Amino acid sequence: MSRATTDACSLPLRSRLCDCASWKAVLAHRQRIEPLDLRAAFAAEPGRAARCTATGAEWTLDWSKQLMQPTTMALLLELARERQVPERFAAMLAGARLNWTEGRSVLHTALRANSSASITVDGRNVMRDVQHTLHRMTHFSDAVRSGAWIGATGKRIRNVVNIGIGGSDLGPAMAYQALQPWRSPELSCRFVSNVDGNDLSMALDGLDPEQTLFIVCSKTFTTQETMENAGSARAWLVSALGEAAVSRHFVAVSTNEAKVRAFGIDPSHMFGFWDWVGGRYSMDSAIGLSTMVAVGPDRFLELLAGFHAMDEHARTSPLESNLPVLMGMIGVWNASVLGLPALAVLPYEQLLARFPAYLQQLLMESNGKRVDDHGDAVAWQTCPVVFGEAGTNGQHAFYQMLHQGTTVVPIDFICFRTAAHPLGRHRLLLNANAIAQAQAFAFGQTSDEVRAQGTPEPLVPHRTFPGNRPSSFLWSDALTPSTLGALIALYEHSTFVQGIVWGINSFDQWGVELGKSLAVDVIKGLEGRTGSATHDSSTDALIRALRATAP
Ligand code: F6P
Repeated sequence: MSRATTDACSLPLRSRLCDCASWKAVLAHRQRIEPLDLRAAFAAEPGRAARCTATGAEWTLDWSKQLMQPTTMALLLELARERQVPERFAAMLAGARLNWTEGRSVLHTALRANSSASITVDGRNVMRDVQHTLHRMTHFSDAVRSGAWIGATGKRIRNVVNIGIGGSDLGPAMAYQALQPWRSPELSCRFVSNVDGNDLSMALDGLDPEQTLFIVCSKTFTTQETMENAGSARAWLVSALGEAAVSRHFVAVSTNEAKVRAFGIDPSHMFGFWDWVGGRYSMDSAIGLSTMVAVGPDRFLELLAGFHAMDEHARTSPLESNLPVLMGMIGVWNASVLGLPALAVLPYEQLLARFPAYLQQLLMESNGKRVDDHGDAVAWQTCPVVFGEAGTNGQHAFYQMLHQGTTVVPIDFICFRTAAHPLGRHRLLLNANAIAQAQAFAFGQTSDEVRAQGTPEPLVPHRTFPGNRPSSFLWSDALTPSTLGALIALYEHSTFVQGIVWGINSFDQWGVELGKSLAVDVIKGLEGRTGSATHDSSTDALIRALRATAP
C-alpha cells in the first residue's frame, strides 16, 4: 500500500459502505457476471493462474480459483481505494486510535518493528518499551533454558505451563506446535485455558512441582478462567513446596501490575505489554514468552522478523500485488457480495493443526460485528464462520459437505514445498492431496463425465461434483519461524482490510461481555445463594438442575 498520512483519515467516522460508488459498481458487476463458472473462466484465459498469483514475504498466493472474472479484482481494489485502506493502514502503523470504541491505538505492528523506529503514543516512543521488554524476555528465557533459573528446591525447570485464554493462549499454543522442530528437547510446554478443571488436571498430570514453571498470561489479570486456573495451580504448587516457592515458580505476563502483585507474583517477575496490543494480536508481545522459552530468543526474533516482513510488504506493495489486500478483498467478495457464510482454512501441514483455532479468534472476534461506525446495522454479511482442520484429516471428515453439500464454502489451502521431517514421500503425498482437492473443488465433475466412466444412470447424480467451489492456495517453501510470522501477519492485515471496507471496528470485542456479566448471578444461583437478577423459567430450571448440591 502506498504511504499516506494519518491526516487523510477523519477518525472515527467513515462514509457508509453502501454510499460508495465503487461498492455499487461491485454489486452491479456481480449481477452482470452471473453465473460464475470456473471451467469457462480458465478456458477463456490461458494466463489466468499467472495473472492471479502474487508473492510477498516468502508467501505466494494463487487466487485464480476464486469465483471472479478478469475485471472483478480491479473493481474490488477500487473499493479498497475508496475506503482508504492504504491511508488507514498507515494511520494504524503511526498509532492512530483506530480502536475508537475503547479509545486505543492499534499497534501490534510496533512489537516487530525495527528497533530504530520511532512510534509515538501520547508523546511516548513505545519502541523503547518494546525493546526493554524483549530484552527482559530474552534474559529470562536464556536463564530458564540454561538452568540458571532454578526452582525453589534448586532443580532445573523442565516443564512450562502457560495459563491463559483467548489471545493469551491460542497464539502461544499454536506457535508451540508449529515450531516443534526448533523447541528445546530439555523443556516441554503445556497450555491450560478452559475453566473446566479437567484441563488443568490433565496439564498437571505427571508434572514434578519442583521442575515446573507457570506463566500466567492475562492482559487484564481479571479473566475468570485464567484467575481460577492460576489460583488452583498455585494451590497445587504450595501444597507440595510451600508458600515461599511461589516466586520461583510463577511469572506473569500482563498489563495490570496491581493485580499481578495482589496474586502474589513479584512485579520483577512480570513481563508487561500495553493497552494498544489487542489480545488476539498479542502472540508477538510478552504473551509469546512460552514460545521464546521453548524455541529460544534467536528463533523468536526470526518469528518477529517474519511478521515485520509481511508488515512491510503490506505497507509498500501496490494493491494489485499486495497479499493482505488481495486476501482481504477476496473475503469481502465471498462474504458480502456472494453471501457465502463460511471460510474453511485447511493447512496441509500437521504442525499447523492449531492454526484454524487461532484464526477463529483473530477473524471472528475482530470482524464478527453487525453495526458500523455510525452505529447502524450493516446490510451485508461481515465475518464468515471460520473453521478448519489439518489436511488430510479434514478430507475424511467434512470435505464431503464441501464438495457436494448445499452450502458453498470458500477455502484457504496452506501448503509448504518441503517438510521439517525426513520421512520419504509423505510431503509429496500431502501436497498432491492439497493440489488435487483445490482442482476438484474448482472444476468438479460433470454428469456427462460421470456417465462416460460407465457409471449406471441412477448413480450419476450422486457421483456428480458441481465444482465452482472457490479457493485460494497459499504456499511457501518451508514452515519456519519467519514464514509462520509472515503468515499470521498476512491474516492480521487481511482482517484489517475487511474491517476497513465494512466500516466496522475490528479491534473491540463487546460481544463477549454479556455472557460474562450474566454468569456472575448464575454463579450465585449454582452456589445456592440468591442473586440479584430474576431469570426466565428456563435459566431458573437449569440452575436448579445443575446446582452442585441438590436443593
Ligand atoms: O474473549 C475475550 C477476551 O477479552 C479476548 O479478547 C482476550 O484474548 C481474552 O478474553 C483473554 O483476556 P485476558 O488476556 O485479559 O485474560
